[in-house]
Amino acid sequence: MKIIDGKSISNQIKSEISAEVAKIIDNNGRAPHLASILVGEDPASQTYVENKAKACKKVGFVSSKYNLSAKDSENDLLETIEFLNNDQNVDGIIVQLPLPEHIDEKKIIQAVKPEKDVDGFHPINAGRMAIGLPAYISATPFGIMQLLQRSEIETKGKNCVVIGRSNIVGRPVSILMSQNADPGNATVTVCHSKTKNLQEISSNADILIVAIGKPELVNADMVKQGAVVIDVGIHRKPSTEKKSGFKLIGDVKFDEVSKKASYITPVPGGVGPMTIASLLINTLKASKKEIYPQTEHN
Ligand code: GUN
Repeated sequence: MKIIDGKSISNQIKSEISAEVAKIIDNNGRAPHLASILVGEDPASQTYVENKAKACKKVGFVSSKYNLSAKDSENDLLETIEFLNNDQNVDGIIVQLPLPEHIDEKKIIQAVKPEKDVDGFHPINAGRMAIGLPAYISATPFGIMQLLQRSEIETKGKNCVVIGRSNIVGRPVSILMSQNADPGNATVTVCHSKTKNLQEISSNADILIVAIGKPELVNADMVKQGAVVIDVGIHRKPSTEKKSGFKLIGDVKFDEVSKKASYITPVPGGVGPMTIASLLINTLKASKKEIYPQTEHN
């Protein structure tokens, strides 16, 4: 069994990006610029936004943070987005989710210019991705594809089972895995809360991607000998062994499943670190206008 080391793969991606930024600067270019918007003071969201800013600094990007109060109106947020959409020096915009209840998340996602939507949440990017056009792909599915590619895992013709159908992970990764691309070309089955015979289906998977948000749902009986297992879940479990009082666990029972898997992602240190690496890749692409060479959506 091999551990897919997301931390090390994400560090490798970061050094490749740093090298490219250094070249851009050498050629008198402007460093890629990511703008983050945070509404309110949710501690988890604050940490995410800070981690994204730290990662930007590490690779030589410019980052800026816009903090709105939880009481600010939807219009205030739309105005901030509009300002950043029009700022020629900003390449990528992320609005940290979730948003306070009085703000319509769908409306906000659609307010970000697709050309700057490095989260890949805008329906134009989601739609383009689905039909195989160049698009920003959101952080987690893109990170999973990078893990498979960089671990040189063959996906062509394999049975891939995705457990979970969310808009940000299960659905997009199922589309990417079925596309005529490498990685891709898998025969994909999407399972969800209404799936019957989950065990029968999952135990037929050569590649099992679990993004259902249920702590340790997947046990060894649900996994085929030699399968590649990608665990997207992250949950806190109370633990007396840890100083913090909790340990992080995934959607997969790591101890027993790792004995059957050929490759497996750990939690933490698997898919998690890849999400920021994906965001950096997207921001670099945005600064190079790689996805949308013209200003209109082609
Ligand atoms: N909240 C949880 N995940 C994400 C993400 O990938 N992007 C943004 N903007 N917010 C999130």
